[in-house]
Amino acid sequence: MTDVLKAENISKSFGMLNALDEVSLTVQEKTLTILIGPNGSGKTTLINVIMGYHKPDSGTVSYRGKDITGWKPHKIYRLGLARTFQIPSLFWKLTVLENLQVAGKDNPGESFLKSILQRSWAKAEEETTRKAFGLLEILGLEKVWDSQASKLSGGQMKLVEIGRALMSDATVLLLDEPVSGVNPTLAHEIFGKLISLRDKLGVTFLIVEHRLDIALAYIDYVEALAYGKVIARGLPDSVMSDPKLIEAYLGG
Ligand SMILES: Nc1ncnc2c1ncn2[C@@H]1O[C@H](COP(=O)(O)OP(=O)(O)OP(=O)(O)O)[C@@H](O)[C@H]1O
Ligand SMILES: [Mg+2]
Repeated sequence: MTDVLKAENISKSFGMLNALDEVSLTVQEKTLTILIGPNGSGKTTLINVIMGYHKPDSGTVSYRGKDITGWKPHKIYRLGLARTFQIPSLFWKLTVLENLQVAGKDNPGESFLKSILQRSWAKAEEETTRKAFGLLEILGLEKVWDSQASKLSGGQMKLVEIGRALMSDATVLLLDEPVSGVNPTLAHEIFGKLISLRDKLGVTFLIVEHRLDIALAYIDYVEALAYGKVIARGLPDSVMSDPKLIEAYLGG
């Protein structure tokens, strides 16, 4: 198994609060690793540190053996890592397709030179649109491609966020609560889509999620945080029965 992502001894404080205290975590290629823990245990902060949104006070983050600690988010994104947010942040007035198109890595709109070279612009747009429709199909969103984002259900919004993240050709996705607030049937469907993305595109996942009842059937590995420290890790069944985890949730 290849280690795709490695966080080693990450600490991050906000004033007096130790949000992360010497946290280490490894994500292996083409697996679904879930990061669990009570509210405020540091899960989102760890995602922010890995993706370059927060600089850690100490510790290192590496991607396929390369030290990327402190890199800016856009540089990390270019490496093939992408994220979604706890609260979906779509362009609400744009359609589903447009939301994916504007997220394309080589969106011609980014480059003035490309935009005046009409032929290359048209070709890039065609390529981006083809890629977007391919992803919409895998995500089961092809029927709502022309719906305005604001009109979608909560679950569909989560799926569009995942589609947007994948427009960068990301091979590693960090998802912050991909099924929170989504009904159980759709939540199972979303996890099913993640498995398809892993199997069809070889995507590796680090997923923050509270809904273990739903996630359990799909995940390969669990990392559990409490008060900014890893308190348990391993295969789902063994972590779920770990007294430290039960205490962290009940005690919290
Ligand atoms: N930018 C910030 N400034 C100050 N404090 C912060 C900041 N971001 C997070 N914190 C604090 O750090 C701690 C960890 O927060 P974090 O958002 O990582 O928790 P979480 O595990 O994602 O929780 P939840 O399950 O509620 O999303 C919390 O006490 C939070 O209030
Ligand atoms: Mg969070």
